[in-house]
Amino acid sequence: MMGVYGEHVLPRIIDKVCGLKATDPLRERVCAGLRGQVLEIGFGSGLNVPFYPAAVDGVTAIEPADVGWKLAAERLADSSVPVERAGLDGQSLPLDDDSCDTALTTWTLCTIPDASAALAEVRRVLRPGGTLHFVEHGLAPDEKVQRWQHRLEPLQKRLVGGCHLTRRIPEMITTAGFTIDEIDAFYEEGTPKVLGADSLGVAVAP
Ligand SMILES: C[S@@+](CC[C@H](N)C(=O)[O-])C[C@H]1O[C@@H](n2cnc3c(N)ncnc32)[C@H](O)[C@@H]1O
Repeated sequence: MMGVYGEHVLPRIIDKVCGLKATDPLRERVCAGLRGQVLEIGFGSGLNVPFYPAAVDGVTAIEPADVGWKLAAERLADSSVPVERAGLDGQSLPLDDDSCDTALTTWTLCTIPDASAALAEVRRVLRPGGTLHFVEHGLAPDEKVQRWQHRLEPLQKRLVGGCHLTRRIPEMITTAGFTIDEIDAFYEEGTPKVLGADSLGVAVAP
C-alpha cells in the first residue's frame, strides 16, 4: 500500500527535485548512444524524454506511479518518440526475451525493492550485446560519507519511497551478468554527498 503520500505527493516532489536543471547534462550524457527499441525502468515523469537521441525508434516505459505518468504528458506531447507505458514493476517485466536494443535507468535502482531482480529482468529482455545506460546514486567512495549514508538510510527509505543510500550499483550490474564498458563515478554538484555519489555509465548484456 503506497498511501496518499507515496501515490500523490512523492511523485510531484520527485518531478521537481529530479527535474532541477543541474541534472540535465547528466541526462544528456547517459542517453547518448541509446537507439532502437529502448526499455526505460522507473520512467517517473519523463524527465529523460527531451534527451532521447534521434536513433531511438520507441520507448517501453515501466513506472508504478500514475501521477508520474500524468506529469509526463507535456514532455511526451513535445517529443516525436513513441513511448508506451508497458508495466508497473521493473522486477517483473511483461516483455519478451531479447525484445529491446538498449535500456535506461536514472536514479531508480536505489528505489526498486529488489534491484537485482530488476537487473536480471533488464538483462533478459535486452538482446545479446544490447546496452544498459545508467546514472544512479549509491554507496560513496569515502568512508566518512558512507558512515552518514548508513545512519541516514532508514530515514531516507521512509521519506523517499524506499530509496536506499548504500547500494553498490556497479557491483549489482556486473553480478547481473553485464560487462561495464564505460563508467564515471563522481559526486553530483549541488547535492549533499550522501545523496549524490553517482555512477554513470554503459553496461553490455551478454
Ligand atoms: C527518484 S525517481 C527517478 C525517476 C526518473 N527516472 C528520473 O530520473 O527523474 C525513482 C522512480 O522509480 C520508480 N519506481 C519505484 N519502484 C519501482 C519499481 N518496482 N519498478 C520500476 N520503477 C519503480 C518510482 O516511482 C520513481 O518514478
